[in-house]
Amino acid sequence: MNIIGYHPGRDPSACLLRDGVVTAFVEEERLIRYKHAANVFPIRSIDACLRQGGLTLDDVACFAFGYDAARFGNGEMAAFYDRLNERYPPDPGTRAWQRANLGRTAHAPVRARLANELLRRYGTHDPPPLRSYPHHRSHAVAAFHLSPFDEALVAVVDGSGEHQCTTLWRGAGQDLELIHEVELPHSLGWFYSALTEYLGFESYDGEYKVMGLAAYGRPHPRFREVLGRVLHPGEEGFDYAVERDYIHNGEHTYSGRFTDRLAAELGLAPRAHAHPITPEHEDLAFEAQRAVEEAVLRLLGHFARATGLRNLAIGGGVGQNVKLNGRIRQSGLFDEVFLFPIPADSGTSVGAALGVHQEITGSVPRGELEHVYWGPSYTDDEIEAELRLCGVCYEKPAGIEERVADLLAGGAVVGWFQGRMEAGQRALGARSILADPRSPAIRDRVNAAVKYREYWRPFCPSIALEDAGRYVERPARAPFMIMAFPATDEAARRIPGVVHVDGTMRIQTVDAASNPRFHGVIKAFEARTGDPVLLNTSFNVKGEPIVCSPRDALRTFWSTGLDALAIGSFLLVKPGRGGVPDAASR
Ligand SMILES: [Fe+2]
Repeated sequence: MNIIGYHPGRDPSACLLRDGVVTAFVEEERLIRYKHAANVFPIRSIDACLRQGGLTLDDVACFAFGYDAARFGNGEMAAFYDRLNERYPPDPGTRAWQRANLGRTAHAPVRARLANELLRRYGTHDPPPLRSYPHHRSHAVAAFHLSPFDEALVAVVDGSGEHQCTTLWRGAGQDLELIHEVELPHSLGWFYSALTEYLGFESYDGEYKVMGLAAYGRPHPRFREVLGRVLHPGEEGFDYAVERDYIHNGEHTYSGRFTDRLAAELGLAPRAHAHPITPEHEDLAFEAQRAVEEAVLRLLGHFARATGLRNLAIGGGVGQNVKLNGRIRQSGLFDEVFLFPIPADSGTSVGAALGVHQEITGSVPRGELEHVYWGPSYTDDEIEAELRLCGVCYEKPAGIEERVADLLAGGAVVGWFQGRMEAGQRALGARSILADPRSPAIRDRVNAAVKYREYWRPFCPSIALEDAGRYVERPARAPFMIMAFPATDEAARRIPGVVHVDGTMRIQTVDAASNPRFHGVIKAFEARTGDPVLLNTSFNVKGEPIVCSPRDALRTFWSTGLDALAIGSFLLVKPGRGGVPDAASR
């Protein structure tokens, strides 16, 4: 049975589930080359999934959508908003947002939009049926059923689903039981987005910048006290509450995400994007991060004790907070922690498809996610045709891993384009930029060559799985680069280019089975330098999505300071960069 899950909101995506197994997933931004692809319907992603599966629409049993659309149309959500508005009188912006949700998330308009897009694309007047699935449950299903656990506490923390902002579940085998929920307006996602905008970044985009900046900040008693009024323990003690007068309700001179009251009490002007970052901004980021970490740890601590569950699976957009995830792992509350690597809403296309499959068949295949190489791939023939079309010089070395390792050990910054594109925000050795992690100067080199990134954003390492213990404390399999680990002394000494200022590293462990060519280049680098580690950053320039096709890779290669490009079995080296002849072959 084939199910297409899709997410049509911010970061639109589509997923193909075949007999309960994810076989394709694509985010629309990769295909249209516009970061986040806000408000773009993921019709190209749907099409890419069908093509990867060799399917037509006739082969699709149904589409799955990760919101409970019925509740938006049958009056339930309207009644929820009415109750909410009675308790918390809304401002015009909040009311407009509620009305918009009721108008666009109900089954009829969602269904009409899908049918219209499919008609325009495929000429079909009889599309497969649409099934909707609750939002937080979509996050939870993906986090739990793709985890290695038979039993676990499942935590979903995001902006908001239908009415939920945070949910906790008991996962056991095929079952997911809701054990706690926090409703609107108490959203940790919105709290963090408010501080993201306060610090001059864009919400639902720059949250990771706040997290990176937090590592540079120091404790700041006044900020802590004010943020403690905004986000504080709830009525039950272990719970939390977000005061909406600082976030939603009130005058919004600076941003729709926070009110003027927050600015007045913080006593620090909201930062304009064009203005420099000061130590006070770093301190505010530090306190915002601390506030969220404390709220989540308090909640998880309570339910770890109450349920006795020793495993934790995490989903929801706040799961992108690598620093928080590392703190949870270090807390000792759980023996094992699993993070679904596409925790934000784009990943609900996966969760909704899994959930609908379970509804239809009665069960869903379970088992630890091995990899997320779910995107388009290109054969050597297709790549070579593109290289010839573009008229570029290239060679086809006998052992590309060895040649690339030589270049990297010699200081080159190399584009690495191999196999199926990875899903999620992290490059995992399919669409990566690689460099030597042994010198701190490499950061400047990579920044100057391609990334043009801010100083607070760390570069991360990919490490051969079998060698992770040399470089991080309490090593574990970490194939998705979404957890911060404390770095060892050996790491600080040998690979300072990828150790964050707070002494952690966000590692990817690489095993030979999941990505043999990537593992091969890491081991070839070790043979030359003694370290089975490479700096691995995403293959894109600032502000653009990660490259998807060979042409995207060539465009980025030639318009940046990259020295070489390993694409399929082919190698391109710019003239004078690495001793490869200018016109090795044609
Ligand atoms: Fe969500």
